[in-house]
Amino acid sequence: MPTRLLVSTLFCAGAFSPALRADPTNPIPVLQIKADQVTAKVSPTLYGLMTEEINYSYEGGLYGELVRNRAFKASKVSPRFWDTVGGAAIDLDTNTPLNDALNVSLKLDASQATAAAPAGIANGGYWGIPVRPKTTYHASFYAKAAAGFSGPITVAIVGTNGGKTFARAQVTGLTGDWQKYEVTLTTKNVKPSKDNRLVITTTSPGTLWLQQVSLFPPTYVDRANGNRPDIMQLLADMQPKFLRLPGGNYLEGNTIATRFNWKTTIGDVAHRPGHMDDAWGYWSTDGFGLMEYLHWCEDLHMEPVLAVYAGYALHHDYIKPGPDLEPYVQDDLDEIEYLIGDTTSTWGAQRAKDGHPAPFPLHYIEVGNEDWFDRSGSYEGRFAQIYDAIKSKYPQLQVIATAKVKNRTPDVLDEHYYRSQEEMEAHAHDYDAYSRDAKTKIFVGEWATRVGSPTPNMAGALGDAAWMTGMERNSDIVLISSYAPMFVNVSDLKAGGSMQWKSDLIGYDALTSYGSPSYYAQQMFSTHHGDTVLAVAEENIPHYTWQPPAKRRNGVEQPRPQPQEVPALFYDATRDGLTGKITVKVVNRQSTPQPVRITLSGVTTVARKGTLVVMQADKPDDTNSIDQPGRIVPKTKTVKGLGTDFTSTFPPYSISILELSAK
Ligand code: AHR
Repeated sequence: MPTRLLVSTLFCAGAFSPALRADPTNPIPVLQIKADQVTAKVSPTLYGLMTEEINYSYEGGLYGELVRNRAFKASKVSPRFWDTVGGAAIDLDTNTPLNDALNVSLKLDASQATAAAPAGIANGGYWGIPVRPKTTYHASFYAKAAAGFSGPITVAIVGTNGGKTFARAQVTGLTGDWQKYEVTLTTKNVKPSKDNRLVITTTSPGTLWLQQVSLFPPTYVDRANGNRPDIMQLLADMQPKFLRLPGGNYLEGNTIATRFNWKTTIGDVAHRPGHMDDAWGYWSTDGFGLMEYLHWCEDLHMEPVLAVYAGYALHHDYIKPGPDLEPYVQDDLDEIEYLIGDTTSTWGAQRAKDGHPAPFPLHYIEVGNEDWFDRSGSYEGRFAQIYDAIKSKYPQLQVIATAKVKNRTPDVLDEHYYRSQEEMEAHAHDYDAYSRDAKTKIFVGEWATRVGSPTPNMAGALGDAAWMTGMERNSDIVLISSYAPMFVNVSDLKAGGSMQWKSDLIGYDALTSYGSPSYYAQQMFSTHHGDTVLAVAEENIPHYTWQPPAKRRNGVEQPRPQPQEVPALFYDATRDGLTGKITVKVVNRQSTPQPVRITLSGVTTVARKGTLVVMQADKPDDTNSIDQPGRIVPKTKTVKGLGTDFTSTFPPYSISILELSAK
């Protein structure tokens, strides 16, 4: 129900004027900020990230590896994602393994190779291999030759259509033993493109076996086995404080055997067996393993929020609490030791061997994921057993439960909310009523306004922003929060393609990436807030009427719930203890501009000039995309006309952050 406007001259974004006189027939909203009344501390770790292998988040996403199915284990039947070149024949060979982990290899029969018709293999990467100008790529592979063959082998990045070779290098001296070969490939001043392949060929007839065929572009902070710089930069710009890892459903797997078994994801990548990510339907080489998560945390100055396996699989299989669960509990303790144990401990020593002698910072351990799905009731026992084991060895750690339990008091409970815009807005004040005496605090470990696909649109961002005002206002209770899912590869959006879950924060293809409006909303909130929450009294907040959809229970549609009056304007105010700066956030979900009178008490002065960061759209379904990454982005400007009593008009479909310099 958009409100009628009082003053029509205030329609432009961020128009400020001295206070308007109240019109008793249609009063404008008033926000009275009481700067001398602190209601809560803003949790310094409120804004973080949540991630898992979904939507090609790591492989085909953040993880720098460009070769798809580099270890030939994605299918047991054929070398998926590999093509032949020239007169070559290829097959999987389980009789010539590289080692116990990579226990299959690609047999390449290049007996037809000639100088005029080289034979070999090609890999098109994850929907393309990105070529950038003047860029050095690092290619490597293990190879073993049949008698009579020693190379040379040519490794090249070649355009898919038209076959332009962008960079090439040669490897010689293959022998009958497995050996690792490494070359660099440097492009010239070429146009960026993604329709390219890695091509490995020979002109000498013969047979060889290959394993762990890898191609890496430059990575963020030049980490070996590292991450894509453009995506890392998007994340760095959010200034996240933690990373919830490694899932999500990915932690659990559909079966106990396909859980995220951290011990098989560390050490030399050529000794990681990989596993089927059956929760999301594709193979993971585990090249992006536990240490890579931790490096990621370190590179972005985030703390891991470590979710440990709690003995439940998505297909409702579980390990009985008691002796059966004990080995898994030990695995969890070992995992914690890997992160924080000193180097005299077994797993601390392993961490040092893996290149990181210093322990990682760690405060939170999460036990499982969404264990409310476990209808057996076993979580009570599983949680208690794991909780006790963690607390007795690491009393300093905060333990997070993923479902309500009675026998222990978790330090934190992880709540997940995937909602429509209206539902998000209807619940934006939920935490205002949460008991301040409750011992268990809240982690909103997965949440999103699911509007827009593959990435959310402005309606999604508005729902998110409304919800974030509620979390921030109550961040004495909501200590940590993370949107999910974070990533989607947008290259192939049909069923079975690159997306398993709609409405993801950041989209990308092989070459470029972009933030959704929801991404920018997060970034705005995360990078602009004080350290205390100020009391705000509201008057005349506009509302709209929402008809919640009827729910279905056991396939039967339930009666329609009563319509609800939902706020159309959301806000919160925080203050920085050091500078005195007051940050006011206002979300206007209406189709019309909304003047709001803002008054401040408990301060001596508020400077006339301040800063406004605003993101707005013409329509709720306006969005960003891989082709139009910057349609909806926040803009920052200096505004005048502020003080202890002023009126600001917030544009339609807008998220605004006003920074006031106050004494
Ligand atoms: O974020 C997608 C999935 O939603 C997560 O894997 C799971 O925890 C939740 O159900």
